[in-house]
Amino acid sequence: MQMGEELFSGKAKSVYRTDDPELCILRFRDDTSAFDGEKIEQLADKGKVNNIFNAHIMALLASEGVPTHFVKRLSDTDSLVRKLDMIPVECVVRNYAAGSLCKRYGIEEGISIEPPTFEFFLKNDELHDPMINDSHIISFGWAKPEHIEEMKTLTIKVNSILRQFFLESGMLLVDYKLEFGLSNGELILGDEFSPDGCRIWDKTTRNKMDKDRFRQGLGNVIETYKEVAQRLGIDLN
Ligand code: ADP
Ligand code: TMP
Ligand code: ASP
Repeated sequence: MQMGEELFSGKAKSVYRTDDPELCILRFRDDTSAFDGEKIEQLADKGKVNNIFNAHIMALLASEGVPTHFVKRLSDTDSLVRKLDMIPVECVVRNYAAGSLCKRYGIEEGISIEPPTFEFFLKNDELHDPMINDSHIISFGWAKPEHIEEMKTLTIKVNSILRQFFLESGMLLVDYKLEFGLSNGELILGDEFSPDGCRIWDKTTRNKMDKDRFRQGLGNVIETYKEVAQRLGIDLN
């Protein structure tokens, strides 16, 4: 697979063309960002850890029938994926209260949310990813009605798979964000699933094991990501 020109460079990953117009290469960099790009640092090994972590999770989701862009891992930091027209919304499911939900509604951190909530956010750093609803998505043409329903169904299906997967290794999947895109009219899970885009707590101590360690300056960010991988049986070598 020939790596072509860079198509896009985001805060943490870069996307490259390949010799196949249907495929692209996702490069996971060590850049780590929080608060919509306000805080950015390089954390050694993060690209590698997230690339391998994501490859494992995407393969698991595919085996459970979730359509994903992931094709194969090419190296420590690069994966081959189907090139998608990304839908500019972020799909968030929450099993426990944390983050913006607590701020927005005055909910105590850590309470169990039953049934889990589903929220859409507009992917727009300058606007700080405002929360949006189905009506905004339809009226402003960000996605079609049938894709809205499919994004909800798939994001909730991912919850049933991954919540159990983390729990079996003594961790709580608190919340997470997914992004979808279209390829030949088909809705497909894109981007990544890694400790950068979700919250994971130790089930017993509720120790934070995700990017909140970076956001809140708790230290040992990548060491903790590695511990999550190790507990899940993901081989990082
Ligand atoms: P951000 O855009 O939030 O800064 P990243 O640094 O992670 O994010 O950049 C990755 C970019 O690649 C994101 O904008 C994401 O929507 C996009 N992307 C993810 N998967 C695909 C794909 N399969 N095809 C095209 N673009 C993708
Ligand atoms: P929030 O509490 O900040 O709304 O985030 C909820 C979850 O979604 C959390 O795991 C972080 C993730 N997320 C991202 O990774 N990127 C984003 O841009 C947003 C809005 C959320
Ligand atoms: N993913 C967003 C960013 O990198 C929001 C966050 O993680 O705080 O800025």
